[in-house]
Amino acid sequence: MPETIAVLDFGSQYTQLIARRIRECKVYSKIYNYRISANDLQQVDLRGIIFSGGPQSVLAPDAPKPDPALFELGIPILGICYGLQLFSTLPGAQLEHSENREYGPGTLTIHEQSLLLEGMPNKARVWNSHGDRLVKLPNGFRAIASTENADFAVIENSERQLYGLQFHPEVSHTQEGAALLNNFLYKICACSGDWSMQDYKQQAIDLIRNTVGNQKVILGLSGGVDSAVVALLIHQAIGNQLACIFVDNGLCRLRERENVQKEFQEHLGLNLRVAEASEQFLSQLKGVTDPEQKRKIIGKIFIEVFEQEVSQIGEVNFLAQGTLYSDVIESSGIDGNPAAVIKSHHNVGGLPDKMRLKLIEPLRSLFKDEVRLLGKELGLSDIILNRQPFPGPGLAVRILGEVLPERLAILRQADAVLDQEIRAAGFYEKLWQSFAVFLPIRTVGVMGDDRTYDYVIALRIVESEDAMTADWARLPYDLLQSISNRIINEVSGVNRVVLDISSKPPSTIEWE
Ligand code: XMP
Repeated sequence: MPETIAVLDFGSQYTQLIARRIRECKVYSKIYNYRISANDLQQVDLRGIIFSGGPQSVLAPDAPKPDPALFELGIPILGICYGLQLFSTLPGAQLEHSENREYGPGTLTIHEQSLLLEGMPNKARVWNSHGDRLVKLPNGFRAIASTENADFAVIENSERQLYGLQFHPEVSHTQEGAALLNNFLYKICACSGDWSMQDYKQQAIDLIRNTVGNQKVILGLSGGVDSAVVALLIHQAIGNQLACIFVDNGLCRLRERENVQKEFQEHLGLNLRVAEASEQFLSQLKGVTDPEQKRKIIGKIFIEVFEQEVSQIGEVNFLAQGTLYSDVIESSGIDGNPAAVIKSHHNVGGLPDKMRLKLIEPLRSLFKDEVRLLGKELGLSDIILNRQPFPGPGLAVRILGEVLPERLAILRQADAVLDQEIRAAGFYEKLWQSFAVFLPIRTVGVMGDDRTYDYVIALRIVESEDAMTADWARLPYDLLQSISNRIINEVSGVNRVVLDISSKPPSTIEWE
């Protein structure tokens, strides 16, 4: 059993981020509902407890509170924001209510020596949470650092190993946040750093084996990183009890279907079924120009084709999905949890309701870069691991207006040229996305002695951290020139290439 840090979730949108930061320090962490009893927590090799932040006021009558017995376990506790204010339930403390809770930058100044802050500079930038305020410390506590707005920015009772922070060490805006968590884990909780992605892999495999037994699992393989990692993980757990389905919707990039077959069937030995459905998709997209309408049609046919394919497999019990933490509507069961309403996503739900399958989502608690690490651990090739994101509706949302076979053929070729050039110049992995867009307008050109009247290709090449914001990439002119030359020379039907220099917001990454 690995050394475990229990993260008690009081409804913070950062709870998963705390767990992830702990994993980065090579320590196993598990998120629990704040109601967990001290007794239940002791079933694991518990080394420390973290109280997450939360949206409520500790003074509210229905405020979520932890089992008081946790304070008596002799296990170190780190309270973050709301978590710190929970110490106000200890004798001697006094908390002052404020109507507003807001976040903002601040400067931390360290006044006293402490194991928690060891090795940190005297001043550091932190991401504060302003809300209720401790005005009197609990008995036996002392303040060891302050910010402009809070005298009690870091407090401790080192004898009882209780620590509190009025800021978020887990967010990247907090300088030294990682050092502080590292101190908590290693200097205070005395963890040995016995956890790795290899352990995660093994735990996930064991869990899948135990859950599935000798039943069957299906998975829609898209060719992207997430579904590839899930496929490999489940394949290592239960072999050919997993059937993967690749739906060829006719909206894929050049040679996508062949590449998927080569990698997953021939190279990795997965049980892969290809559902050829191009005709079905293209005929139903005929005459459709509205982007959301295209998405709806594609989503609907996908489900039909997928169901049809599954019905040929026989009895299937589970549907696996590559849902990541960022896709999840995080609902920890705490009323009013702000994280609950941040994002709903196309990956969550949809298929299972109709098909009455149980869901397996082994990536649900991971962040994208952790999925890549796991993929590496599973032996997935770099080509797949480092793939840029590709939208579910495929090239249909990169052909403005009606999706027609001629337009698909042009776009595929132009996109392949762009892809080759970007990779050859060493930019592919540095970019968030780089792709071509087909514009259904014709402009005049000249080739040799002839006048041409052909289509326009737009290049969309962006840098981004998480697709929430993005900026157009400043690529060398020479590279842009050779992309443009090659597309116009090699792709018949195109005589003009334009570069999209809009950032997100206000533009989106995709054109539709
Ligand atoms: P936008 O265009 O909204 O895109 O800036 C943000 C990210 O999401 C991808 N995207 C989609 N992915 N289905 C998907 O699976 C979709 O309908 C869809 N629309 C956009 C886009 O490629 C970018 O990475």
